[in-house]
Amino acid sequence: MTGVVLGIETSCDETAAAVVAFDCGIRSSVVLSQLEDHRAYGGVVPEIAARAHIEHLDGLIERAMAEAGVGFADLAGVAATAGPGLIGGVLVGLVTGKAIAAAAGVPFVAVNHLEGHALSARLSHGVEFPYLLLLVTGGHCQLVACAALGSYERLGTTIDDAIGEAFDKTARLLGMGYPGGPEIERTAGSGNARAFALPRPMVGREGCDFSFSGLKTAIRRITEERTLSPQDVADLAASFQAAVGDVVVDRARNAMRMFAERFPQGRTLVVAGGVAANAALRKRLETATKKSGFTVVAPPKELCTDNAAMIAWAGAERLQAGLTDALDAPGRARWPLMELAAARTTA
Ligand code: KG4
Ligand code: ZN
Repeated sequence: MTGVVLGIETSCDETAAAVVAFDCGIRSSVVLSQLEDHRAYGGVVPEIAARAHIEHLDGLIERAMAEAGVGFADLAGVAATAGPGLIGGVLVGLVTGKAIAAAAGVPFVAVNHLEGHALSARLSHGVEFPYLLLLVTGGHCQLVACAALGSYERLGTTIDDAIGEAFDKTARLLGMGYPGGPEIERTAGSGNARAFALPRPMVGREGCDFSFSGLKTAIRRITEERTLSPQDVADLAASFQAAVGDVVVDRARNAMRMFAERFPQGRTLVVAGGVAANAALRKRLETATKKSGFTVVAPPKELCTDNAAMIAWAGAERLQAGLTDALDAPGRARWPLMELAAARTTA
């Protein structure tokens, strides 16, 4: 196909717009983080997020189009995140995307945010289906067999907290700001990972579900029992990161076994989502996968955390497959990846 796809992302606390070409070229990608708007509250406030999206989205789209050097006449389609996410914000991006598509007279694609993360390694590395996906974000922790576009099978998920949530909650217990992941990683760099004996929930169990709440409780208990010195905080951050690494590696090993039985030709583990920015975790996974005969592919950091290039790309893939959406496509707070294929075939 010719032309470019405009992508819009507003499902959480990043307002983003991007222009992507069908040959995987990212022509522009602008992301405005609302971190400062939410910092005082220790987490994302949905109402503040939605208002900030309204305020900034138009300008960001203008910038993305200008940086890409394209006008609306160059668009082959418009893609916007339709969920899952904070519904107020989702609706801001969704109606904006629909309006531009209608005005430009081009097809519209309602993108599932998780599919955006899932396909990001195809944009950055041209990874072929089938592949195993470890999706690690602030709201999710899943192992998914990606068989084809729109065809995803969940092998395992968290039974309590998402992995990014565990990083954020632990960071808060240790007196760090939001989001906690980057700060835990930085602090862990000067800590001793063996200083605290923390639990490894689910390790050694069958299947590949995750659990992180026990780890968080153990850390809370330690913070309540003693006053932590700066070195203790670093040691605890390092011990937490090591425990999370053990859990993820153990679960991923089982998933690789399950995936290899189903898809003997697939030998790639894609790690995507905000937590994939964690270098220590990536290294642990690289070592583990080598032993299982898999190769780890992780998109660059700017494609791991929320962005609109991955949304534009998911839109490009869907457009190429002839999968477009009507202008009454709904926004959804909840929208499991597994429901995609079914929704498409009955559409
Ligand atoms: O994918 P993402 O940008 O947004 C969601 O869709 O959730 O992920 C955000 C999450 C936050 O919980 C944040 O703390 C975590 O990713 N994160 C990290 C790192 N960078 C971001 N977690 C651990 N280590 C990091 N370096
Ligand atoms: Zn995300």
